[in-house]
Amino acid sequence: MGKLDKIDSTGIAGDAPHIFWHASQVTAQVRTHQTGQQAATVWLTGLSGAGKSTLACALEKKLMAAGHMAYVLDGDNLRHHLNRDLGFSPADRRENIRRSAEVARLMNDAGLIVICAFISPLRSDREIARDIIGSGNFVETYVSTPCAVCEERDPKGLYKKARAGLIPEFTGVSAPYEVPLEPAMALDTGELSLEQACEQLLEHLSYRFL
Ligand code: ADX
Repeated sequence: MGKLDKIDSTGIAGDAPHIFWHASQVTAQVRTHQTGQQAATVWLTGLSGAGKSTLACALEKKLMAAGHMAYVLDGDNLRHHLNRDLGFSPADRRENIRRSAEVARLMNDAGLIVICAFISPLRSDREIARDIIGSGNFVETYVSTPCAVCEERDPKGLYKKARAGLIPEFTGVSAPYEVPLEPAMALDTGELSLEQACEQLLEHLSYRFL
């Protein structure tokens, strides 16, 4: 259940009796009219090195060039500031996803198209994100580049370190990655060019939100 679902008709949050919701006078319809787009969150999940951040930034650039308002939330970047207190234990990853999804939800509420790039290795954590953001505007996209290709690329040298035992709980090496069962899309950047992967995402967004 999403946090907003817990707010009753009096505006009181169910698990925080002394906290009240102050409603905005600007409706979602007004924002949609002003921005000319339906807000949505493209949630890119996949291994480190799969191409999530590259794809996210390329899509953001294309959307902005086409006159849309888009913004990337990247796991590595958020871990520099908002999520700097979190590590890579299952509990910390879950909190990382929860907080980041809350940020995406707020940005969607403001009318933006948000592109999230997080390993988000567990199905249950991605379900939390879907629940927070709302399934109607959550586009789960599996960046399905195989582990062998990610490891071969190893852009940050992390697989090498993980294999040497220097990084504990490294996804794909010593921590699990659960493949999405019914993603809206699957994009293997080992097979597709950046341009092709971007086009597929844009096509999907175009018929649903733009
Ligand atoms: S998530 O699992 O919590 O979703 P997130 O996407 O925020 O991860 O961050 C992943 C990035 O953190 C990787 O691209 C990599 O640069 C870095 N990283 C550092 N330690 C680990 C680790 N143990 N497992 C995976 N990624 C790690």
